[in-house]
Amino acid sequence: MSNQAKIIYNDQTFEAPVVKGSEGELGLDISKLRGSTGLVTYDVAYKNTGATQSSITFIDGEKGILRHRGYSIEDLANNASFLEVAYLLLKGHLPNKKEYQDYTDLIRMHTLVNEDVKHVFQAFPNGSHPMGQLMTMMSMMSAFYPDSLNPHRSEEDFDMTITRLIAKTPTLVAMILKKKMGHPLVYPKNKLEYVDNFLNMTFGQVTEEYDLDPVLSSAMNKLLILHADHEQNCSASTVRIVGSSQSNLYASISAGIAALWGPSHGGANQRVLEMLEDISQDGGNVQKFIDRAKDKNDPFRLMGFGHRVYKNFDPRARIIKTSADKVLDQLKVNDPILYLAKELEEKALADPYFAERKLFPNVDFYSGIIYRAMGFPVDMFTVLFALGRMPGWIAQWNEMRKAGQPIGRPRQIYTGEVHRPYPSWDERG
Ligand SMILES: CC(C)(COP(=O)(O)OP(=O)(O)OC[C@H]1O[C@@H](n2cnc3c(N)ncnc32)[C@H](O)[C@@H]1OP(=O)(O)O)[C@@H](O)C(=O)NCCC(=O)NCCS
Repeated sequence: MSNQAKIIYNDQTFEAPVVKGSEGELGLDISKLRGSTGLVTYDVAYKNTGATQSSITFIDGEKGILRHRGYSIEDLANNASFLEVAYLLLKGHLPNKKEYQDYTDLIRMHTLVNEDVKHVFQAFPNGSHPMGQLMTMMSMMSAFYPDSLNPHRSEEDFDMTITRLIAKTPTLVAMILKKKMGHPLVYPKNKLEYVDNFLNMTFGQVTEEYDLDPVLSSAMNKLLILHADHEQNCSASTVRIVGSSQSNLYASISAGIAALWGPSHGGANQRVLEMLEDISQDGGNVQKFIDRAKDKNDPFRLMGFGHRVYKNFDPRARIIKTSADKVLDQLKVNDPILYLAKELEEKALADPYFAERKLFPNVDFYSGIIYRAMGFPVDMFTVLFALGRMPGWIAQWNEMRKAGQPIGRPRQIYTGEVHRPYPSWDERG
């Protein structure tokens, strides 16, 4: 097989080296194309562009494969703890027992956030969206840790920023929920495991002991793992491109949260539940909404269906669906919205429109259902996605930083006015 491709333009031949990934993926290295030919590549929304080499996550969208550092998502979701997966993503290998103990101890030591953070929370109006709050809190962390602004710190200092982020994000997320409910804060309890600690801060009350439910802990652990990384998606690419200007980690992650918020990305999990509520309020006619999604004159889309990369099935959705069934069963949830979700899933999957376009339920379709059954308010769903995605974003940012990648800066094909003289006020009519 040739390791070069030829691009012939006018009389010029450009030889592009073929780059091969460890799973056999092939890409054309066109980094010298413009210098040699004056041409740039044109690929709106980067549908066909490899922006980086990366050794963190592998996806085969046709086969429905997702692996982190070589380990399948099925093995990780069924066997690992979220912190184990975070360690894997961040350090490149699974921890041994001692490394895991040391890591969990380290994270426990950093779960508290500065008391002044509470004052910032007080300034948010009631009803402000939790994702906006999380973005603000995240960039505000740089104010509490100004050392993080220095892009030339020691590796130990970078590691400390990363540890703080992993340790404090659950505390911030729980604070957002408590503010929303108008309840007093529940501080971290460091004898608890990471996920249990989060659930205790979230659903516990200062007035009484919270009984942790192993079914909920296991479901939450699985959900966080399933969201931990997804290679060069919109938010991870945002984190990388912001970080490429040597912006600090907190600011880069805050930008990633902004990207995640949109309904075409993580915001879809909130929209799934809102869509189901709309269907219910409209009388429960699922077919009517399927028909709307198929109508090209109607901007409505079935939320939680379709994926840029997965064109067969979303492996995370398969795992989560089993988990959703278990959680609903064990919690004895009897929620009409969830029956609507099942009906919608069945009808859409049987419809040729969705089959022809390879549109299947994605991770957001089922995650919202579990979060609702667990008792999270709908507008917290995307924040929970962000909590799970934290190690992935950080791993992507760190990989980019350590590789010394230059500032990200796409080109464009300009289609505006060509040069014209500046008119006087009179000449403008
Ligand atoms: C995820 C998503 C943004 C992927 O977008 P994409 O890769 O750019 O795919 P496109 O928008 O080009 O869609 C391809 C075709 O499927 C249709 N389509 C895609 N998702 C659809 C949906 N959820 N409902 C109805 N039609 C959909 C498009 O209209 C298009 O049809 P056409 O070929 O007749 O024009 C898109 O599927 C979507 O908007 N899904 C709903 C939001 C969601 O769940 N996001 C979470 C992703 S994890």
